[in-house]
Amino acid sequence: LINSAFAFKKHYKSIAIPEAGRSEGAKFQQPDAASSEAAKGKPLTDKTVALMFSKRSTRTRVSSETAITMLGGHPMFLGSSDIQLGVNESLYDTSRVISSMVDGIFARVGHHSEVEELAKHSTVPVINALSHLYHPCQILADLQTLLEFRQPFSTDLSSLEGLTIAWVGDSNNILNEMMVTYPRMGVNLQIATPKGYDLEPEVVERANAGIKQEGGKGKIIYTNDPAEAVKNANVITTDTWISMGQEEETAKRLKDFAGYQVTNELLKRGGAAKDALFMHCLPRHKEEVDDEVFHGNQSVVFQEAENRKWTALAVFDAFVGKWKV
Ligand code: CP
Ligand code: NVA
Repeated sequence: LINSAFAFKKHYKSIAIPEAGRSEGAKFQQPDAASSEAAKGKPLTDKTVALMFSKRSTRTRVSSETAITMLGGHPMFLGSSDIQLGVNESLYDTSRVISSMVDGIFARVGHHSEVEELAKHSTVPVINALSHLYHPCQILADLQTLLEFRQPFSTDLSSLEGLTIAWVGDSNNILNEMMVTYPRMGVNLQIATPKGYDLEPEVVERANAGIKQEGGKGKIIYTNDPAEAVKNANVITTDTWISMGQEEETAKRLKDFAGYQVTNELLKRGGAAKDALFMHCLPRHKEEVDDEVFHGNQSVVFQEAENRKWTALAVFDAFVGKWKV
């Protein structure tokens, strides 16, 4: 998927990659021939992908709608006020009916079991567009971004081995996705969440199983101290303290997360690498990261957001375009 995302980016932007920043001058590795070929085709011609979103979205919606259109398909947006899902019809019935008419389903749901239920009964591929537990499409874009800024530049994921990423924030879907992805490819994850916002046991179990399966190269370090988490980190990342659906807990969370704002003072005090990148999936709020870091020279948040599009092209090409009944 990553190779394909680079192929799409190169094909549509018609520029050498990486395009800017500290990777300038790095040699671009040609994507493989199959990916380059796929980037030119319209594999979703006459195909429709249902975008079933029960929560708001900017990046996931815009990247998927544009990607599906570029691949020659039709993105059919079905928001929670458009269809019967969860209001007047079961997930089972909805999945059976919608999958009988479309070629793929991209679903943003509340509880993770909802996307699993849709997938269980669907006759077409179902892709997770965010659930309370995971957000795979975001981490694909993050991987592409990490590769673009790694020296020497390579599209090979094994080149990320040895990188240390610090997470300072909530124990949420974005962190969970990082936990089940990064350490198994040899990337260390140093995590700080406040007391009472502990790691999800099922995610820890899956992360450890992944590390074991891949030879145990990446490490997960867990603490309640943000300064400890950023020590020697090459990448600092965070997310909102109040995920969609948690709005009623806002006052409590703002109090519980005191001291967790990412600032240059924290990075200095904790001993983060001087050239550490800052990443954030967006949407961003000032409480979790101040303007100086968010808009600083080492912030790659907008490249990260743009990569949602190139990775979305790869995802829909692979899971809907190539999929046959
Ligand atoms: N990062 C992300 O998924 O953003 P949206 O919620 O706007 O789609
Ligand atoms: N943790 C956030 C991610 C948004 C992209 C949420 O679930 O609302």
